[in-house]
This record gives sequence, structure tokens and C-alpha cells, in this order.
Amino acid sequence: MKGIVLAGGTGSRLWPITFGLSKQLLPVYDKPMIFYPISTLMLAGIREILIITTPEDQYSFKKLLGDGSNYGIELSFEIQEHPKGIAEAFIIGEKFINKEPVALILGDNIFYGVGLGRQLQNTEPILGARVFAAKVSDPQRYGVIELDPHGNPRSIEEKPSHPKSNLAVTGLYFYDSEVTDIAKSLKPSSRDELEITGVNQEYLKSEQLQVNIMERGTVWLDTGTVDSLHAAGTYVKVIEDRQGMKIGCLEEIAWRNGWVTDSQLKERASQYGSSPYKEYLL
Ligand code: TTP
Repeated sequence: MKGIVLAGGTGSRLWPITFGLSKQLLPVYDKPMIFYPISTLMLAGIREILIITTPEDQYSFKKLLGDGSNYGIELSFEIQEHPKGIAEAFIIGEKFINKEPVALILGDNIFYGVGLGRQLQNTEPILGARVFAAKVSDPQRYGVIELDPHGNPRSIEEKPSHPKSNLAVTGLYFYDSEVTDIAKSLKPSSRDELEITGVNQEYLKSEQLQVNIMERGTVWLDTGTVDSLHAAGTYVKVIEDRQGMKIGCLEEIAWRNGWVTDSQLKERASQYGSSPYKEYLL
């Protein structure tokens, strides 16, 4: 399967921090934010990844990530000219997707927890759409899913003022090869965006929307506000300090997956100067 990280956007809730820099390049404790969503795709076993950025920021992402060979993956890059909505990723990425199934993750979403890779590496082929939902205390901020008593989705609403459940759709989605055509058929919403909820509603209509509820021990954080960014940094620091293991270390995941050799890892570590990240890789 292929993967897309959507890392454009305005980041207006973080102004002035994001006046001069993409949100997804900001640090979440000891590494750039975009490492975390890339790590999630890698844990799902995905090695061909498209990074979509604003025109101004593309250079910085290329400088940061290169062609992906340091992480045993293949990276390509595309531009989103204007933040016209999350579903536009499938139109921008049409060539890359090449009528194959695809995963999309938002560049400011962090997932962490025991067995995350296992939850994501569901080996069944994707028929329709598979979204991941998580319980939240503030569902009004998200796409909200209502389930019937059998656990099947009944409705999905974007940022409802009266949410029908506390189950939010997270920023990680798996789709079959129909997704680009569905995205193309959408009309822009009242805020002039192609809404990902619109895509999911189409799959729901044809009874092809599968909802996986994240296991209780799995943490889902988004980092779009000053407070949530700070909280995510603190979370990563607390876990890393306590366990002596890093969250979202791309080289480590590549090495554990057998995608880079011991000597490639050593060589990569030598490029990190005198940083603690280097010591960790060694
Ligand atoms: P949002 O947090 O909804 O939007 P934003 O990043 O522009 O921030 P703000 O609301 O503060 O202005 O976006 C979620 C993620 O999706 C984020 O990683 C940016 C990305 N995104 C795009 O790349 N393009 C888009 O058109 C949209 C809407 C989001």
C-alpha cells in the first residue's frame, strides 16, 4: 500500500509561530512534527510515501527528509497551492496513487501505543474505506461518528454543534482505489474546502465505511494549537525519559523493520553531529 502525509495548511491557530515556518516542521520535543506521522505509516508497513506541502515549505521538507533512503523508504513530494481541504490530497496525489489503495495521514497527528503496528497492519485488503476513531472529550472539533448497536457506522458529521457520540474520526484513513474519483466528485463546503468527511460520507452511503476504534492504550494527539503542541511535546518527553526509548524515530523503525542494515544505521548516526539522537541510534 502507498501512503500520503498531508503537511500543508495554514497553521493559523499557531500564529505567529507559523508565519515563517510550516507547522509540520516545528519540534515536538526532540524531533520535527512530521517524523511522527511518517513513523505511523512505516509501522503500518508502508514504504512508498508522498509528502504534500505548501509551495514555500517544500524545499525545507526535502532538505529534512531527502529521498527517504535513510529510513528505508521512498519519498516523493507534491505541492498544494492553497489549503483547499484534506480530500484534495487524493487529487494532487492521483498519479502517485495510480489507482491503488492508499493511506492518508495528517501531518499534525501523532499516534502512539502498544500494538499500534499490529492494529494498522490489518492484512485484509481494503474494500472501501477504513477509518480510525477515538474517544475524545471535545468531539465538536472533529468529524464525529455515530454507531448502531452492532458497531456499524450510522452517520458521520463534520464538527457538529450537537455531536451524536464522543467518537472522533482521527487523521488516519485507508481507502481503496476509488478514492480519487470520489474526491473529484465532491463540491467545496461552506468553508470552501474539499472535506474528508465528504469522502467518508460517500463510502458510508454505499455501506463501504469500516470504523476501527482505537484500542484504549493507544494515544492520539493532534498538535494544531499552542496548548496541544506543548502537551504533545511534554508527553513525548515523559515517555522517552522514563523508558529510554524514542517515539517516532524513523531510523529505528526502519532498522527494526529490516529496511536498513546495521552499518547503514551507523553511517546515518554519524550524520547527526553531537546530538543525543545520534547517541540513541548508536
Ligand atoms: P488543520 O489543523 O485543520 O488546518 P491547518 O493546519 O491549516 O491549521 P489552522 O486550522 O490552525 O489554520 O489541518 C489538519 C492537517 O491537515 C494539518 O497537518 C495541515 C493539513 N492540511 C493541509 O495540508 N491542507 C489543507 O487544505 C488542510 C485543510 C489541512
